Amino acid sequence: MMKIDPADLSRQDAHALLIGAVLPRPIAFVSTVSEEGINNIAPFSFFTAMSTKPAIVGFGVARKRDGAKKDTLVNIERTKDYVINLVNEELAEAMNQTSGEYPSHVDEFSVAGLTPVKSDLVKSPRVGESPVNMECRLMQILEFGQSPNVASFIIGEVIRVHVQEESWVDGVLKASKVKAIGRLGQDLYCRTGDIFEMKRPRG
Ligand SMILES: Cc1cc2nc3c(=O)[nH]c(=O)nc-3n(C[C@H](O)[C@H](O)[C@H](O)COP(=O)(O)O)c2cc1C
Repeated sequence: MMKIDPADLSRQDAHALLIGAVLPRPIAFVSTVSEEGINNIAPFSFFTAMSTKPAIVGFGVARKRDGAKKDTLVNIERTKDYVINLVNEELAEAMNQTSGEYPSHVDEFSVAGLTPVKSDLVKSPRVGESPVNMECRLMQILEFGQSPNVASFIIGEVIRVHVQEESWVDGVLKASKVKAIGRLGQDLYCRTGDIFEMKRPRG
């Protein structure tokens, strides 16, 4: 067995190890709006649901290599809201395009050909093409590490969910319709087409 202590690794190597060990990860495709009114969107796979009632979700945003904050974090700190959009197979290419480092005056919806739709309860726009949009209100930001290696974990309450009708069958969101993709290590992804069922044991 290899024995590795992440604290001894460079940031790059620690990242490669973690994303290879924690998988598959769902992708939060996070849309926000800047002070100047420019729409922003980027993917984050350090993402999880944290509580159901209240409905709480969280995702992690690292600093850029030079220690500067990413636009997503800057925008959320200002507006205190954001939308988490689900990434399916159809959105994979557009999602990847938005992960490039664009200057903050660039509208990443336009870059990726995505449609910003006005949200009901938050200032941030949602993605028209995504099968599920979760409007979130910021609750708390946890910070880890020291400059330039700081990571912010953004925790928010889901206050409204939009679900495309094709994905909503008999009162539930159907994974086989949603066709979410997951993130693995390196630059690898998985589809969720190979689904099986297991009933929970009783008692
Ligand atoms: C599939 C995928 C997952 C990603 N996950 C994360 C993540 O969890 N945390 C992070 O800081 N960056 C992550 N990134 C990189 C960001 O998307 C990238 O830094 C982006 O440019 C940030 O955009 P912004 O400056 O507009 O916020 C990921 C990229 C991809 C393609």
